[in-house]
Amino acid sequence: MSFQVACATSVIGPAEALKVELVNGEGKNVPVAVVRDTDGTWHAVGDTCTHADFSLSDGDIEDGTIECWKHGSPFDLASGRPLALPATRPVPVYVIEISGSDVLVDVDATL
Ligand code: FES
Repeated sequence: MSFQVACATSVIGPAEALKVELVNGEGKNVPVAVVRDTDGTWHAVGDTCTHADFSLSDGDIEDGTIECWKHGSPFDLASGRPLALPATRPVPVYVIEISGSDVLVDVDATL
């Protein structure tokens, strides 16, 4: 595991998300949506919708889901699975940890 600082906790409020670009162990850029759910729970999922190339971090967050703003597929933040069409494939879910005022994400470790 190799955690990286994704952002400060202070920049994401409840029901908000932020797109960050992290680098995995192979040196590849990985777009990640760092999400704070309505209840304050933190999640890190792949930022690119599996239906088309749109950023999930621009979508609405509610009760454990993030909804793609383009065509409306909601993704479960715990499993990454789409809960409705048109998306059919899950997004990756990454290990996330809060350390003091930092949000840490490990893009080499998926749940
Ligand atoms: S691009 Fe996300 S549901 Fe179509």
